[in-house]
Amino acid sequence: MAGFISTSSLGGETALSTQPSTQSTRALLERKETPSQHDARMKWWREARFGMFIHWGLYSVPAGAYNDKEIPGSGEWIMSQAKIPVAEYAQYAERFNPVGFDSDHWVRTAQAAGMKYIVITAKHHDGFAMFHTKVDGYNITDATPFGRDPLAELAEACQAAGIKLGIYYSQCQDWHHPGGDAWDGHWDKAQDGDFDAYLKNVALPQVRELMTNYGSVAVFWFDTPTRLMTPRRAAEFLPLLDLQPQIIVNDRLGGGFRGDTQTPEQHIPPRGYPGEDWETCMSINDTWGYKSNDTNFKSTATLIRSLVDVASKGGNYLLNVGPTGEGIIPQPEVDRLTAIGDWLKVNGDSIYGAGPTAFGDEAGQFDTKKTDEHGHPIWAAKWDWRCTTKPGKLFIHLFKWPARVFMLKGVAGSVTKAYLLADEQQSSRLFQQNGNQVWVKLPALAPDAIDSVLVLEVAGGK
Ligand code: GLC
Repeated sequence: MAGFISTSSLGGETALSTQPSTQSTRALLERKETPSQHDARMKWWREARFGMFIHWGLYSVPAGAYNDKEIPGSGEWIMSQAKIPVAEYAQYAERFNPVGFDSDHWVRTAQAAGMKYIVITAKHHDGFAMFHTKVDGYNITDATPFGRDPLAELAEACQAAGIKLGIYYSQCQDWHHPGGDAWDGHWDKAQDGDFDAYLKNVALPQVRELMTNYGSVAVFWFDTPTRLMTPRRAAEFLPLLDLQPQIIVNDRLGGGFRGDTQTPEQHIPPRGYPGEDWETCMSINDTWGYKSNDTNFKSTATLIRSLVDVASKGGNYLLNVGPTGEGIIPQPEVDRLTAIGDWLKVNGDSIYGAGPTAFGDEAGQFDTKKTDEHGHPIWAAKWDWRCTTKPGKLFIHLFKWPARVFMLKGVAGSVTKAYLLADEQQSSRLFQQNGNQVWVKLPALAPDAIDSVLVLEVAGGK
């Protein structure tokens, strides 16, 4: 049977080493499944391409400010950035009453955006549970006037709408519970304690609750593994993941656990990770958790072209929303998501289930002369066009509309038809091919100012 095996055979492993020192420990941290079982488990995720990340928690109440001062950094880090004492931060719970929270509306917003899965923060680094945990009262159901379990409501709404539910959980960093780790070190004595006791009394039982009490969980999103997460400790989580045998787990548990997906953050890798499952997570403005003063929202054009850029490199795009303390997704985020969804209604065939480009140089190249502060060559991205593929089809995403004729080099096989995806009649465009060079005649005006998709049907291609 696919899955992980028991941890008992890990007896010899010492607490301090973060990397699997023995072959057997490394093997223990890998899921036991055949390549075809793996592909079957990853299939929906690879076809989905686009998901919603939701950062929502107690930090949505201060919304970026503390003692009337704007605190720098991402909103969900305010407790650490401002070194807010544990007891004082916990008082935000009394003011956390998100009566505007409507799980159906959140799910409809994701659907209208064309997103196929949702990953929500069940517990972030601040240690506050956004679900009804029995571990202790530091959760939204017991500690706030709200008194409901939003994760249960969201799980139900996802189930009803056919949207896959994913759960984010901060397994190492916990700035509330004694023994929980803190990237920048503890700032309050109340945080001191034993990490193994924190895992045993908080993290592991909560992950079990999340794997048991909320129906089907399709994705588990760990975060910020720290040096305390040894292979032995990481292995303690594996039997819990087996409670959801089909679950897709990211690469951030720690302890040498590879996971199923790589997770570049706030950037798109120049060439993607060929042959790997990867997912760029990105915020629409500069923060994951809600900050009332952060209005630096990316344009719809940037977001659509980023989704296409990611898909053209074989990856998934996990785009974030940061609801307010009232439980409302900020309108500028909703507006952009709706616009992306409108584009996908016309061009979804070029994204969902599509494979990476048949070319590559269109995305840019490394500048051989310039290097960054780490001495790495700088990537000079180009934004004229991208390509996604399906068997017998090339989807050419034209960000910059060429004047009347689009010329493409390096086409394998012979083009049999060319048409614009936005044209429901799929009426043929005039084209000419000479060897691997193709010229397509285009109308004067682009069907879409952000990305117009030209489809080339190809016979005998790769
Ligand atoms: C980083 C941040 C964390 C955020 C995550 C999203 O790990 O520390 O706050 O949730 O990125 O990818």
